[in-house]
Amino acid sequence: MTSADLPLPAALLDLLARARRVVAFSGAGMSAESGVPTFRDAQTGLWARYSPEELATPEAFAADPKLVQDWYAWRMELTARARPNAGHVALAELATRVEVVVVTQNVDGLHAAAGSTDIIELHGRLRWVRTGDRTPVEAPMLGDDGLRRCPESGRLVRPDVVWFGEPLPQGALERAFREARACDLLLAIGTSGLVHPAASVPVAALEAGRSVIEINPDRTPLSDHVTGRLAGQSAQILPGLCAQIGTSCL
Ligand code: OAD
Repeated sequence: MTSADLPLPAALLDLLARARRVVAFSGAGMSAESGVPTFRDAQTGLWARYSPEELATPEAFAADPKLVQDWYAWRMELTARARPNAGHVALAELATRVEVVVVTQNVDGLHAAAGSTDIIELHGRLRWVRTGDRTPVEAPMLGDDGLRRCPESGRLVRPDVVWFGEPLPQGALERAFREARACDLLLAIGTSGLVHPAASVPVAALEAGRSVIEINPDRTPLSDHVTGRLAGQSAQILPGLCAQIGTSCL
């Protein structure tokens, strides 16, 4: 994709070429082409009758730990089969040419798998940890009661992700806002922009006078406020877009 293929104003194309410090703010749409369903997609099969908001809470885990553990086991299996797509790879390659901080709401680990290194995981990472503390549990023990427990302590395990009503990892959100306010360009990729405080990160960039480009086939609450918008799938758009970033000094 050449710059001529990017439906962006000339001034913004020029900004892309001059950008040296980029924040890639990603949501579930970033991983859609890796086969990981987004939150706004209807859940499939057994999970069709539940919404994430009903399952991703401390209350749901307390009420029915097996249901919540089974849901996350299903999601872990989905993401274990997923591979980074061309969008993840394009961001990792871009970081070899300019400074890129990935601020992701995703818990699938696909940015790291693609080779990105400076990643802020606002909502944690899909892996089992002990209830209460954050000790990773590689291989939980499945008891006769169908509950997954830590093999050493016997305590129930939960995923190391942020649930609704829980605080984000210490310092992650503060750094994400700092990077958004200091960057040359923020790419808002595959996010509905509905879940705060994470969804406020691109807004912070706009309020600081930074340029924000949204990459999403659908419109979102951000769409009317961003500097530029590329309607489409991130795995199709990002390789051509990233190729235009940081090229001015080549
Ligand atoms: P959503 O599922 O809310 O939104 C995904 C967005 O990606 C939508 O706007 C889609 O239109 C768009 N999309 C779909 N396919 C795409 C593609 N191929 N390329 C680009 N965009 C595409 O996911 P998030 O915005 O990430 O929170 O949701 C934010 C948070 O809500 C999640 O982190 C999770 C959820 O509850 C927690 O788990 C705390």
